[in-house]
Amino acid sequence: MERTQIVGTGSYAPSRVLTNQDLERLVDTTDAWIRERTGIEERRQAAPDESTSDMAVQAARPALAMAGIQPEDLDLIVVGTVTPDMPMPSCAAFVQAKLGARRAFAFDVAAACSGSLYALSVADQFVRTGQARRALVIGAELFSRSLDWSDRNTCVLFGDGAGALVLAPVSDTDDSGPPRGILSTHLRTDGAHAEILTIPGGGSRMPMTEEVLHERLNTVHMNGREVFKFAVRALVDSTHEALAAHGLEPGQVDHVIAHQANLRILEAVLARLEIPREKCWLNLHKYGNTSSASLPISLDEALRAGRLKRGDIIVMMAIGAGMTWGSAVVRW
Ligand code: ACO
Repeated sequence: MERTQIVGTGSYAPSRVLTNQDLERLVDTTDAWIRERTGIEERRQAAPDESTSDMAVQAARPALAMAGIQPEDLDLIVVGTVTPDMPMPSCAAFVQAKLGARRAFAFDVAAACSGSLYALSVADQFVRTGQARRALVIGAELFSRSLDWSDRNTCVLFGDGAGALVLAPVSDTDDSGPPRGILSTHLRTDGAHAEILTIPGGGSRMPMTEEVLHERLNTVHMNGREVFKFAVRALVDSTHEALAAHGLEPGQVDHVIAHQANLRILEAVLARLEIPREKCWLNLHKYGNTSSASLPISLDEALRAGRLKRGDIIVMMAIGAGMTWGSAVVRW
């Protein structure tokens, strides 16, 4: 079976910046509280005429350019998102049309903040089996339209953005070194904890009514403490599992590319894994939690900053509503 390589990365953040000071004027919060509890200083907000697929396309273009691939060359597009343009059709269908990726079949994966890791894993399977040669994986999320801007528990956390990865079979014919590319992905779900992070209204269980809108049940509802505890445990476990699959120890990891939910979650995970913080690319101070977008944005930034060297071991990790989580091991 073929192995898959990441041959292009791209990211996009809307130009409008919303600082903690801006939020102080909206809800009963302070810059100091937000920084201390989350590490976030500012986040981006999409323009009123911007949709999730618009951001996805903006991230995809530089990823395709880096890969030297035209949109028509793509066989597959997978978009991780829970904030699509519309409930139907998929965000991926709009992305396919906007890019002009005529040959690609396209669909969304709904795994919340784990969305891009799930999408990466799905696309990896298609490339490994040879059913797709060129795949575009996107994490794109526009949470600013699904937040209650009077709820300080949630509105300070999220930002809008998109990240993209282009996958292709490993072209490396040099068999002398250890195998490169995506070594494995490890996905987990525990639906028994679904209720700790939801958008309760607007679906089949609680269709959109005036009451749903009035009670703002069409926005994110979260038990922050429970999410925090679950996230630390789950990310540590799945990272150990992913590394053990290749006989690797945390000490052999060169880079951590993680979903940027909260600085304290990441610090707790890194401390338990005994991986120095400097090995983890951090950008949540600039973007907040961009949900499924944060993993590919982080990889793109780390790569373009010259941090990733051939042969480096990268561990990726993400966690989101569901609860969904997982890890991946990549040799760059
Ligand atoms: N500003 C000021 N005070 C606030 C704010 C705010 N923005 N938000 C909550 N508070 C208050 C609470 O109301 C509470 O007040 P009370 O004690 O009078 O009730 C107090 O701060 C302390 O609340 P805690 O829940 O103890 O605060 P905690 O230290 O747990 O931090 C936080 C809250 C930041 C949400 C934390 O629990 C967290 O990060 N959880 C993970 C949630 C997360 O990352 N969600 C993202 C989506 S899921 C994902 O990406 C994996």
